Amino acid sequence: MENKARILKLPEIINNRGSLSYIETHRHVPFDIKRVFWIYDVPGGEIRGGHAYQEQHEFIIALSGSFDVIVDDGFNTQKFSLNRSYFGLLIPALNWRQLENFSTNALSLHLSSKEYDYDDYIREYEKFLELVKK
Ligand code: TYD
Repeated sequence: MENKARILKLPEIINNRGSLSYIETHRHVPFDIKRVFWIYDVPGGEIRGGHAYQEQHEFIIALSGSFDVIVDDGFNTQKFSLNRSYFGLLIPALNWRQLENFSTNALSLHLSSKEYDYDDYIREYEKFLELVKK
C-alpha cells in the first residue's frame, strides 16, 4: 500500500428519513478490518496518539463532532480536520499520528488492519525517523 495518508469519501445514502454511510473491506478501505475501537469523552485540550505503527494501517472517521489528526511521514507533516462522518482518513503504517483539538462530544472511530499489538507501536519519535529514513 502507498505510504501516503489521505482522505477517502464514503458512500452516503441521503433521504428525508436521514442519512446513512457504510464501509466495506477492500471496497472503501484497502485492508482487512481486524479491529475497531473508538475514542470519546476526551477533555478539552487533550491529545491522543502520538505514536506510529510498524505494520498496521488505520482508517479514522469523525462519527460525531470534530478533531484534527496530525500525520507525519518523517519528511512532511499534514493536518487533517475531520468533522463529517462520510469522510475517513486512511493512515498507512509508518506514519506518526496525533489526534488533537477534540470538540465537545467528539467520537473518533478507528478501523485497524491488525488486532491490538503492543509491539507494533513505535513510541519514540527518533526511532520512527530512523525506520522511515532507512
Ligand atoms: P493507545 O493506543 O496508547 O492510545 P493513546 O495513544 O491515544 O493514548 O491506547 C491507550 C490504552 O488502551 C493502552 O493502554 C492500550 C489500550 N488499548 C487496547 O487495549 N486495545 C486497543 O485496541 C487500543 C487501541 C488500546
